[in-house]
Amino acid sequence: MTTKPILVLGSTGKTGRRVLSRLRQHGHEVRAASRKGPTRFDWNDRNTWEPALEGAGAAYLVDSQQSDAAASVRSFAELAVATGVERLVLLSARDWVVPDGEEKLPAERAVRESGAQWTILKPTWFAQNFSEDPFYRGQLLDGEFVMSTGDGVEPFVDAEDIADVAVAALTEDGHGGQAYELTGPRLLSLGDVVGEIARATGRDIAYRPVPPEEYTAYALAKGLPEDYVALLNLLNGWIEERRFATLADGVQRALGREPRDFADYVRRTAATGVWH
Ligand SMILES: NC(=O)c1ccc[n+]([C@@H]2O[C@H](COP(=O)([O-])OP(=O)(O)OC[C@H]3O[C@@H](n4cnc5c(N)ncnc54)[C@H](OP(=O)(O)O)[C@@H]3O)[C@@H](O)[C@H]2O)c1
Repeated sequence: MTTKPILVLGSTGKTGRRVLSRLRQHGHEVRAASRKGPTRFDWNDRNTWEPALEGAGAAYLVDSQQSDAAASVRSFAELAVATGVERLVLLSARDWVVPDGEEKLPAERAVRESGAQWTILKPTWFAQNFSEDPFYRGQLLDGEFVMSTGDGVEPFVDAEDIADVAVAALTEDGHGGQAYELTGPRLLSLGDVVGEIARATGRDIAYRPVPPEEYTAYALAKGLPEDYVALLNLLNGWIEERRFATLADGVQRALGREPRDFADYVRRTAATGVWH
């Protein structure tokens, strides 16, 4: 076990928060970093990079989601290695292509080429989008879930599993040089998702599938920015065409156990009251 602090970027986000709390529970010294985190870290302000890295032995990387994310990850990974970081774990994604045509892969390549021991996490859609993303959660609270994914299906992955894999890669041997594709154990349509959440909460939640143009109008009327709506339509289109409708074995390979089922996520989350 590394005795040096472990830097967690994106420490306020869906996975970073969970990685942080697990590392703390396991007794590791951690540094929680993001724009709003206790250690201020901003991908757009390089003055914040070195103080965040100081003395760290490993780092969990969540990129900026901006068009220059890969270049920033490359510079940051180089700096990390120069300051003594030995392990880098990157949160990436399944091999999608972002709207401007730039692949996600350049950030992965940057980490692979950094000289650190690297592990890359390639998750599919997080289950937690339905409870921790304000737009999706808001729809569920309103009692009507609108989506343009047709009859497509997706193997939603539990962020708890992503965090388990991240912590294993940050703290245990045997994960260096591995890219783990992470999915849940079951393919679900968005209608299935809404049905499971409605049943678990005892609430009446309608599922309204719409074509992309109608989804655009709906999301814009809800106040989402135009470029974000375009991204959502792209992602929804990929679900509709079943681009990622396959189960992967990353959780099994990394942890030697099956991934959590979507029903576990729904049961746990319904009990917190976030859908009421
Ligand atoms: N959600 C999914 O279904 C999904 C699926 C596959 C892959 N991914 C990938 O996972 C990554 C994170 O997505 P997410 O849904 O987990 O997002 P999230 O929950 O919003 O977390 C993003 C984190 O990054 C931090 N952050 C954002 N901009 C930053 C900046 N300029 N400088 C420093 N920190 C910044 C945020 O904290 P502050 O606001 O405090 O800075 C937050 O902690 C993305 O790269 C995404 O492509 C997501």
